[in-house]
Amino acid sequence: MTVVTAALDFAQVSIHLGGREIVEPTSLSIAPGEFVCIVGPSGCGKTTLLRAAGGLLTARDGQVRGAVRRHGQIVDSPSRDVAIVFQDYGRALLPWRTAEGNVSLALEAAGMPQPQRSARIAEALTKVGLAAHSGKFPNQLSGGMQQRLQIARCLAQSPSVLMMDEPFAALDALTRQGLQDEVARLVQAQGITALFVTHDLEEALYLGDRVIAMQASPGRISHTIEVRLPRPRDQLTTREHPEFLRLRRELFAFIEARH
Ligand SMILES: Nc1ncnc2c1ncn2[C@@H]1O[C@H](COP(=O)(O)OP(=O)(O)O)[C@@H](O)[C@H]1O
Ligand SMILES: [Mg+2]
Repeated sequence: MTVVTAALDFAQVSIHLGGREIVEPTSLSIAPGEFVCIVGPSGCGKTTLLRAAGGLLTARDGQVRGAVRRHGQIVDSPSRDVAIVFQDYGRALLPWRTAEGNVSLALEAAGMPQPQRSARIAEALTKVGLAAHSGKFPNQLSGGMQQRLQIARCLAQSPSVLMMDEPFAALDALTRQGLQDEVARLVQAQGITALFVTHDLEEALYLGDRVIAMQASPGRISHTIEVRLPRPRDQLTTREHPEFLRLRRELFAFIEARH
């Protein structure tokens, strides 16, 4: 039997902020290429868990206890191997840089020489359907396009892990569905491991290989659902699939019972 090293591994990890235990000792292992969604009420510690996974909170400061590992290595600082897409695209993008300039940031940070950058930038913008808008500034783009731009910048970084914190919450339903499909496609095509936080239970089931439900005070994992629906998923057929409906009922009933 081959043992695959987890892309992300939490071994009895607890997180303490402001003198409080925000997340109680939690174990979680995510396989390379797996798409894991986290759902749960506001304040239950979803963002905190993501920050620990991304090395933004560490044992050094006494905030994280227990071991967080990425591909077997202890996580104690942010890494270019992990890209994070935030909900607030307006603040994540630099307003004085064009779309091209924003994607370029990731490559400049990685020390890529200018001559190689243009091709990579064009490739990243094409992947998210923004090739025709490369010279525009963020405020000339719609919310959905700005979020696409943030995703392009993250992908240009060639991360092995992509974390997204309620990335589509501010977008209208149709834009959100389009972006769900784009993210699912890009992540699968590049073999990226994804950790995706959302309020939207159906979004979690639609995107995830696994959905993890958290509970608050202290934050903890209270339920896990394996989603064995075929890929690529489809906004109509997947959401009408009997298994999708069964899982949806299970997840809603579980969350409802805890309110
Ligand atoms: N830096 C901090 N210091 C103290 N408490 C914090 C800090 N950051 C978050 N918290 C608290 O941790 C809890 C979980 O927050 P968060 O992870 O942002 O929740 P979620 O993303 O699930 O809405 C909340 O009660 C929040 O007030
Ligand atoms: Mg949050």
